[in-house]
Amino acid sequence: MLKYKICVVGTGYVGLSNAVLFARQHDVISLDIDLPRVEKINQKISPLVDSCIEKALQENQLNLKATTDKKQAYHQADYIIIATPTNYNSETNYFDTSSIESVISEILPLNNKATIIIKSTIPVGYTEQVKSRFKTEQIVFAPEFLREGKALYDNLYPSRIIVGEKSERGEKIAQLYLNATVEHTAPTLCMDATEAEAVKLFSNTYLAMRVAYFNELDTYCAKHNLSSLDIVRGVSLDPRIGQHYNNPSFGYGGYCLPKDTKQLLANYKDVPQNLIQAIIQSNQTRKKFIVKEILKKRPNVVGIYRLTMKAGSDNFRDSAIQGIIHELEEYNIKILIYEPTLKTTHFEKYPLENELNQFLECADVILANRMHSDLKEQQEKVYTRDLFGEN
Ligand SMILES: NC(=O)c1ccc[n+]([C@@H]2O[C@H](COP(=O)([O-])OP(=O)(O)OC[C@H]3O[C@@H](n4cnc5c(N)ncnc54)[C@H](O)[C@@H]3O)[C@@H](O)[C@H]2O)c1
Repeated sequence: MLKYKICVVGTGYVGLSNAVLFARQHDVISLDIDLPRVEKINQKISPLVDSCIEKALQENQLNLKATTDKKQAYHQADYIIIATPTNYNSETNYFDTSSIESVISEILPLNNKATIIIKSTIPVGYTEQVKSRFKTEQIVFAPEFLREGKALYDNLYPSRIIVGEKSERGEKIAQLYLNATVEHTAPTLCMDATEAEAVKLFSNTYLAMRVAYFNELDTYCAKHNLSSLDIVRGVSLDPRIGQHYNNPSFGYGGYCLPKDTKQLLANYKDVPQNLIQAIIQSNQTRKKFIVKEILKKRPNVVGIYRLTMKAGSDNFRDSAIQGIIHELEEYNIKILIYEPTLKTTHFEKYPLENELNQFLECADVILANRMHSDLKEQQEKVYTRDLFGEN
């Protein structure tokens, strides 16, 4: 097997998991603009919670170096993987892809041979536009399907490897990823860039639809005083539906589903649709319903047990509970947050109480998107729609 020089730009969930994946076989340099992250990686400490990454950094003989030096990172690389953020810009109704463009404009003068692989999630049609804007054929898109918290695991055991180019180069990239997996059995697909971009957005929108569906089922049950557990179990035993990813929640959230559904809807401009729009609306409707249910309890102080989206998560980007907090604010309800990963006194303008017993005492109603053993003693105060105690 050939050993390559690989540069990974961005050391978040996508970048760091790709960097560790390839550093088992190739020479990898990780580039980030965030110096503390770079220093941590060089000290073999993971800047994010992911047990596989933490273990690999500590135990494996990785050829991995992190840096903030662009020249050093780019100039000798055979492959440069871009894994920088693409936040949704609600003013333009499109992803903000400026971090990708700034990276490309820095690479091209320093390295005109490397294959640049975009792993960030991008709008449908983006790769063709950016190739023509920068007048380069160096760029290929390959979607990333990992889950946060299981980022390296999902790259070691991927559900599929998709590369957005039907060419020998595309096949080589698919093989590069396949060779880095544990079992070498994942299906690989090469297709045109625009189709590969669509695969990513349609996959995440399907997941959002599934969450929204089980949440609407649960809303129906709550309204009619029916057992959501019985109905979800009965429905899910149909093997075409399946007993997975069916646990009701306050709404879908996290970094990817909210923004990726909105981007797909933006790509539907001039294309007839009802469903894509409805998925996004359904998530809003669900949060409004949850708020009404909470208000019925006439609380003075609503306690928020964790701002995270799911158990084991270390970040709360766009978590559903934040939507609930903002809705509750409209009704002048006092909010108290328990979030032990925060060392501050407040989150936004809301006070934090990280002494668990104190928190449980002070709140009249405690909202938990997912149940936790911490809440057992005060179960009668807890409001959750979690049926299965899993994500
Ligand atoms: N998080 C996920 O589960 C997931 C899954 C699949 C795809 N994606 C997509 O991958 C992309 C990255 O997501 P993430 O969760 O890894 O992001 P992240 O926010 O965790 O990490 C991004 C990193 O990029 C760095 N960065 C920003 N601008 C940079 C620049 N100009 N040069 C170098 N580094 C820079 C940041 O400092 C940060 O460390 C997004 O497009 C996202 O939609 C994310």
